[in-house]
Amino acid sequence: MKPGTFICSSAASLAGLIALGLSGCKSGGGDTIKVGEFASLTGKEATFGTSSHEGTLLAIEELNAAGGVLGKPLELLTEDDQTKAGEPANAVNKLISKDGVVAILGEVASSRSLEAAPICQLNKIPMISPASTNPTVTQEGDYIFRVCFTDTFQGAALANFASTVLKAKKVAVLTDVKSDYSKGLAKSFKQKFSANGGQIGSELDFNGGDKDFKGQLTAIKSDAPDAIFLPGYYNDVALICIQAKQLGMNIPIFGGDGWESESLLTIGKDAMENHYFSTHCSSDQGTPEMTKFVAAYKKRFNGKTPDAMAVLGYDSAMVLADAMKRAGSTAPAKLRDAIAATQDYSGASGTFSLNADRDAVKALVFIQIKDGKFTYNSTVNP
Ligand code: PHE
Repeated sequence: MKPGTFICSSAASLAGLIALGLSGCKSGGGDTIKVGEFASLTGKEATFGTSSHEGTLLAIEELNAAGGVLGKPLELLTEDDQTKAGEPANAVNKLISKDGVVAILGEVASSRSLEAAPICQLNKIPMISPASTNPTVTQEGDYIFRVCFTDTFQGAALANFASTVLKAKKVAVLTDVKSDYSKGLAKSFKQKFSANGGQIGSELDFNGGDKDFKGQLTAIKSDAPDAIFLPGYYNDVALICIQAKQLGMNIPIFGGDGWESESLLTIGKDAMENHYFSTHCSSDQGTPEMTKFVAAYKKRFNGKTPDAMAVLGYDSAMVLADAMKRAGSTAPAKLRDAIAATQDYSGASGTFSLNADRDAVKALVFIQIKDGKFTYNSTVNP
């Protein structure tokens, strides 16, 4: 075990377990229900994993405070995959073989979920991804689920948005070729935008983590599109928007849920102004479930406002607990069937059902960045 890769739940949930009369992480003897989690708590996309972990942890703490599930407390075993390829496989192998978890929650980023899913499938341990939207994630097998929509839906919603709200005729597409999420979302966007009669202008690539995007942006500028579609993650997106502004490009730039992080604003600052992205939910959407979650999260995490990954992390753990209760068992095969049967579930992110492909069918929201804030724009229902 590498130092720093294993966090035995957190100090807080340990405190929760101790409060319930347990000695800590390795309580053994089957007196807890072990749930695994893998997340990017450090590294390039640390805000993704930190958020999803906090939401997950809050759910586990709430469940334990209410007496646990099936008469036992839940024990969350969390592995940090450090935003690094190769680590998700190590993490789930350890959680399954060494820790003996009954199910696994994770990951946010599609490439990392795609690395772990075949291992969960092979071992017949249910995996619920909170936020991975690439369509192929759940195609890895019948033990793989998600509590978010897919990029088939998100890409089509973004294409319709470009046609009807941005009234764009020609859109340039800038894709992160290192990310399955980016490639998949670019593909579904292009299909739908072309079907709408729109024209795809320059198509350019980058590698997540690049720092200089001026070459791609200069090529896009000379092609004069009406907008740029940028299906990337927040850190790259912020740098690209800064450099587009420096090049005097005044057209809308828009993307998907990968933009969602407070860091988008702290890095990109005024270069983010007026741009748009789609995401899973908004902390001010006003449903009783969301309002309750936001209050509990703020109380637990020093007044911090939850982002979509926190909300979905919470929902992933709650859907698993709901399945345990309905199954009356934590045997992985029974859990699998119960998760698959999730219908009209009222989550913090919204009400959703899992379809035959084990994907959540649910609404999406558009956000515009205005006066340095994420501002709700509109909702698209499935
Ligand atoms: N949907 C993204 C992916 O599949 C991850 C993500 C989810 C990012 C939610 C931000 C918010 O990789």
